[in-house]
Amino acid sequence: MNDTSEDIRIAVILGTTRPGNYTSKAVALVVDELQANGIAVDTFDPAEMPLLSPGAVGDNLGPERLREMVKSASGVILSTPEYHGGISSTIKLVIENLGFPSVLAGKPVALLGVAAGRIGAIKSLEQLRSICSHVGSIVLPGPVSVAGVRQVFDEDGRCLDGEAEKQIRSVATKMVDYVRQSVCPAQCLEVLVRAS
Ligand SMILES: Cc1cc2nc3c(=O)[nH]c(=O)nc-3n(C[C@H](O)[C@H](O)[C@H](O)COP(=O)(O)O)c2cc1C
Repeated sequence: MNDTSEDIRIAVILGTTRPGNYTSKAVALVVDELQANGIAVDTFDPAEMPLLSPGAVGDNLGPERLREMVKSASGVILSTPEYHGGISSTIKLVIENLGFPSVLAGKPVALLGVAAGRIGAIKSLEQLRSICSHVGSIVLPGPVSVAGVRQVFDEDGRCLDGEAEKQIRSVATKMVDYVRQSVCPAQCLEVLVRAS
């Protein structure tokens, strides 16, 4: 990454509400990497901002906050734990709360999957990629799967594995590089063309 273009805003979404979850430990590294590079970050934790099932009525602020966060983001990072060989119901609910048609359409999206098992979060990442493509987002290549996460982090969230940490942080750098190289130049060009 370089130091230009600080108008970038990235939304980072946690895909679980499980108390003591490890996905948030990996997400914390992604957020740290973004902030260390001067990027504005909005985080969404569905445990703090409950969502609604499709068609349900309620006065929760979660759905509106989530949609506004995604709308104003230059890019979105979605995380999911691997639960029963697939994505969490929480990350699916997040996507369902993003509207139909979805405010994810046209957004660059990077994916992070976290699993206790040695195979990693391959299945959930495949499912998440498919759903994100279906709603029209631009899914960045190189999703990151964290395998054996309970050996990668201690209970306090300290990362014990340098190589895994590098991989997790790369979710942030790949997103920012993509936005800088492919989204911002296009926006700048549009401003120039409209002004001429
Ligand atoms: C309902 C449930 C289903 C799970 N299924 C799997 C699984 O299929 N494969 C796997 O590797 N780990 C599985 N796990 C373990 C999670 O991957 C593990 O908890 C990991 O830490 C990531 O989830 P977390 O963010 O909730 O901690 C499951 C955990 C739960 C709670």
